[in-house]
This record gives sequence, C-alpha cells and structure tokens, in this order.
Amino acid sequence: MTSEVKEKVDNILFRHNCEKKELINIIQEIQKEYRYLPEDILIYTAEKLDISQSKIYGVATFYENFSLEVKGKNIIKICDGTACHVRKSVPILNAIYKELGLTDKKRTTDDMLFTVETVSCLGACGLAPVITINDHVHPKMTPESAIELVQSIKKEEM
Ligand code: FES
Repeated sequence: MTSEVKEKVDNILFRHNCEKKELINIIQEIQKEYRYLPEDILIYTAEKLDISQSKIYGVATFYENFSLEVKGKNIIKICDGTACHVRKSVPILNAIYKELGLTDKKRTTDDMLFTVETVSCLGACGLAPVITINDHVHPKMTPESAIELVQSIKKEEM
C-alpha cells in the first residue's frame, strides 16, 4: 500500500474517530473512494480498528452494495425485476453486453471504463424498463437508446 493510499485511509478513519461502531460508514467511504474494497485496505483498516479480518470481511461481504472486486469507472445497472423483465430488459442487457464486449462472466471492460450489473428492482417500476448509469436513472429504455447512452459516455471518455 502506497503512503498516499495510507494517508487517504487514515483520513477516512480519522473522520470517524477510529471507532469500531463506525465500521460500516468507514467501509462505505473506502468503497466510494476506490469504487470497490481493495484487500490490502481492508486488512489495514481491520488493524487500525483493532478488529479481526474475518469481522471486516463479514461486513464487506454481507451488504450487496459493497464489492470486493474492482469495478469500472462507469457503473451501468440494468433492472431485471418483474416490471422491467416483462418490458424486455433482457434485450437491453444483451445489447449493452455486445456493445462493450462483456458477458455474464466478464462484467468489467479491460479499459476499466464500464462495469455492467443486473439488479432485481431499481424502485422505478412505473418507468420500466429502467437502467441506471452511475446512479442516474434512465427510464423507458430500448436496446437502441441504451447503446446511444453507452456510446455518448465512450465519446466523453475519449
Ligand atoms: S422492476 Fe425494474 S424498476 Fe422495479
């Protein structure tokens, strides 16, 4: 772990007074900073908080929002809940996979620009089919409109 990373993590811990009861908030901030939970940072955090590694891994794996896997800069979530599924979310997912060269088994692009995930309901069923890109909701998608969105992000990133 570089001294720069250490300093960042120390700042997060400092903001939470290095308190064990702040563990979830601390992990949340680490994830926000790195978009996932790097192993060395989790181990360092456990040491600093004087808790076991199994405890911190227990928390990190319990909550769906936490990820131990590195993620891309842009997170695309495709809803496959009932309302979205019946309004054809699967063709949208497949179109995005194809556009980005991804599959069910490979969900992050090699350039680390995109991660594609499916979720069970985004809480906007009236707007189905819905996707979010970096938590911004895009309603009533079609495969074509979803690809347009992805392409516009690609252009911005160029
Ligand atoms: S099922 Fe997709 S938003 Fe609820």
